[in-house]
Amino acid sequence: MIIDTICGIVPLYHITYDARLVPLTMQQKTFYLNDETDTCALGKALAHVLERGLTIYLHGDLGAGKTTLTRAMLREAGHAGKVKSPTYTLVEPYVIDLNGQAVELLHFDLYRMGCPEEFLEAGFREHFNGETICIIEWAENAGSELPPPDIAITLDITGDGRTAHMSASSGKGMHCLETLRFSPHC
Ligand SMILES: Nc1ncnc2c1ncn2[C@@H]1O[C@H](COP(=O)(O)OP(=O)(O)OP(=O)(O)O)[C@@H](O)[C@H]1O
Ligand SMILES: [Mg+2]
Repeated sequence: MIIDTICGIVPLYHITYDARLVPLTMQQKTFYLNDETDTCALGKALAHVLERGLTIYLHGDLGAGKTTLTRAMLREAGHAGKVKSPTYTLVEPYVIDLNGQAVELLHFDLYRMGCPEEFLEAGFREHFNGETICIIEWAENAGSELPPPDIAITLDITGDGRTAHMSASSGKGMHCLETLRFSPHC
């Protein structure tokens, strides 16, 4: 069930030096995901709007569905092998097909990272390079060392299902959410 889809563009305005009003945009979408099948359907839909260099934060409690969502995204993007949770390795690398081009996708799980400095010491920051797609679970553990997201997705455990709140905070992220075509049970 779609409980609240703000597909419309919420215009904000700021005044430029010549006092013209310039619209900025903000994009947010919220879906209720009844069961794992819905979470996978959202992951599949997201696979179709991925762009090179996209950074996606995945928030939510333990067991909220962050890895489930990522796994479905990777499968739909053409990854045929296993998708392990990077709980102990902190990151798992993949190569996906984006419009006929091979693109690196890194799936991070920073739950076990002790402090934000570890993120730098591990050399993770260099992967945020405008080319690699980075999907991050437990982004909060890297603090301000982590580059900002294009899209943040929060999975809230709601009854027996999940509520997915998605918000874009860059032009690239807005484009992805605007083009996202998703209806649960599809
Ligand atoms: N919409 C949903 N409704 C109910 N259960 C779901 C839904 N989506 C996923 N699940 C279930 O919730 C669990 C999610 O596990 P998953 O490993 O994906 O969580 P996670 O957020 O990655 O946790 P962690 O923070 O420990 O890595 C799985 O058992 C899956 O079947
Ligand atoms: Mg996980």
